[in-house]
Amino acid sequence: MELKNAIYKRRSIRKYAQAQIPLEHIEKMIESAQMAPSWKNSQTARFYVAHTEKAIEEMRDCLASFNKERTENVGAFIVTTVVKGISGYVNDQPTHLGNGFECFDNGLSVQNLLLTATELGYGSLIMGLYKPEKIKELFQIPTTEEVVVVIALGKADVNPDTPPRLPLDQILTIK
Ligand SMILES: Cc1cc2nc3c(=O)[nH]c(=O)nc-3n(C[C@H](O)[C@H](O)[C@H](O)COP(=O)(O)O)c2cc1C
Repeated sequence: MELKNAIYKRRSIRKYAQAQIPLEHIEKMIESAQMAPSWKNSQTARFYVAHTEKAIEEMRDCLASFNKERTENVGAFIVTTVVKGISGYVNDQPTHLGNGFECFDNGLSVQNLLLTATELGYGSLIMGLYKPEKIKELFQIPTTEEVVVVIALGKADVNPDTPPRLPLDQILTIK
């Protein structure tokens, strides 16, 4: 699939049909995530995958209730975390964005992951509303990391239209 197609075809999917995802596909997604740029190549994104039926159900219990409803039948969840206090720091001092570059790096890697998922034929949904402490307990995530997003992956059972985007003249300034 052409990059442009993947960019424009990817949609947030909130209804899934039953289907499994081979682990090789998950690995391809994570490898593409690793190719994203990061602050001083610090590579602070980490990935935790729920792949068995049991782990998937445990993960669904960690989600906000409306996200739990939207993720019935998913084939996997990927939790992204950031190793805190590295990306965006110069001599232990943060920039004007505070620790914002940590999540910036994470987002860059997540978009690569989503585009690869689209190319492999999967629907996906990023979720920012979940119970972080429950997820940390489930995966035994070290205290040096913070959870960023949870990504649902599976076979889309809907084909949503593109939600409207702002017109260019509202978001673009050229001098
Ligand atoms: C950081 C982040 C958190 C999000 N959290 C949720 C969520 O908790 N539940 C949900 O259904 N969608 C969530 N979304 C999906 C957005 O609503 C969606 O990307 C947006 O409406 C644009 O639609 P599109 O992804 O189809 O282009 C989230 C997206 C991002 C980037």
